[in-house]
Amino acid sequence: MASEALFSKVRLGTHQLSNRIVMAPMTRLRAPDGKANAIMAEYYAQRASAGLIITECVMISDTSAAYINCPGIYGDDFIDGWRLVTDAVHAAGGKIFMQLWHSGRVAHTSLMPAGAAPLAPSAIVGVGELHTPTGKQPLSTPRALSIEEIQDIIRAFGKAAQRARLAGFDGVEIHGAFGYLIDQFLRDGSNQRTDIYGGSAENRTRFLLGIITAVQQFFGHDVGVKLSPASRAHGMTDSRTETTFAYVLGQLNEADLAYVHMMEPLPGDESPDLLLGETVAFARKHYAGPLLANGGFSGERASLLIAQGGADLVSFGQAFIANPDLPARLKTGTVLSIPDYTNVYGLPGQPLEVGYTDYAAALV
Ligand SMILES: Cc1cc2nc3c(=O)[nH]c(=O)nc-3n(C[C@H](O)[C@H](O)[C@H](O)COP(=O)(O)O)c2cc1C
Repeated sequence: MASEALFSKVRLGTHQLSNRIVMAPMTRLRAPDGKANAIMAEYYAQRASAGLIITECVMISDTSAAYINCPGIYGDDFIDGWRLVTDAVHAAGGKIFMQLWHSGRVAHTSLMPAGAAPLAPSAIVGVGELHTPTGKQPLSTPRALSIEEIQDIIRAFGKAAQRARLAGFDGVEIHGAFGYLIDQFLRDGSNQRTDIYGGSAENRTRFLLGIITAVQQFFGHDVGVKLSPASRAHGMTDSRTETTFAYVLGQLNEADLAYVHMMEPLPGDESPDLLLGETVAFARKHYAGPLLANGGFSGERASLLIAQGGADLVSFGQAFIANPDLPARLKTGTVLSIPDYTNVYGLPGQPLEVGYTDYAAALV
């Protein structure tokens, strides 16, 4: 059973959270027109007993083209849908950050505007397959962004944050993990640029730091960053992972963030060169601010980690899918329901609710 450590209040950014259980960002693909909607509002409100909810990744540009039915925030007409979500979560007593995201080379031409090549630091194809209108396809070969285009994307992150603020979010998380665009800039396997955005760790971190500055214009201290240095998702590699991420974390120390969200690799996804199951400890060593640990935690392990000072909060992903009242279940030791993984992602022709809002709270 989880211990008291998990249920103590904590300050995060400008917010006081009622517990240290965070709902991790999870893509669920329930936005058929790219706009957040009433069913998504219900889904998030059901989970508002988390100290903090972080939304699924949200497209800051229509060139973040990885998934069908993924929601966006790249125009003012996206604000009203998200307002439904924030109002519902706040009415249920919760707090919610939006995860801002660009997928970079994790994209397919059929999902890109005008069928164009995906965008990346360098023209190096990633590893993996995506669902496209014509079935599963390997990632398309990207083209390298120009310096002007990089600066446009940084500005688009800022605009997205401004809209998130107008939509009533309590903060934003910048998605720097899992092989998407920011991660592609950070690691030298995917970033072979020779300008100010490539080469040294300092140059590779410049894109992330530019985004933080752009986003902080609208959210100040209420900005988190998610990283997954030990993950190889989508073909990520770095020749000196520890050196790279020690530098990144050192820079984040200066950035006045609400938190760093550090993800342990998923089983089978670990980097061979570093940190097998030690990513959170690595982050604690190099980052002095609030640390949010993630990846395969049970209530017991999360409580222990917090009690021992290894992290300040713990986020849970999969456990929230079938347990909307996860904090209460962890507190009482109620058995956790197992999600049906066949409908975790929205399926064409299936009502949005199925496998989404139809998991009941336990009768405690
Ligand atoms: C269905 C699903 C969708 C996910 N989508 C995202 C996402 O949009 N953004 C993100 O940063 N991580 C995403 N993740 C990763 C989770 O945030 C989390 O890092 C991972 O599930 C490990 O935590 P857990 O063991 O508690 O599930 C997703 C995970 C799952 C299972």
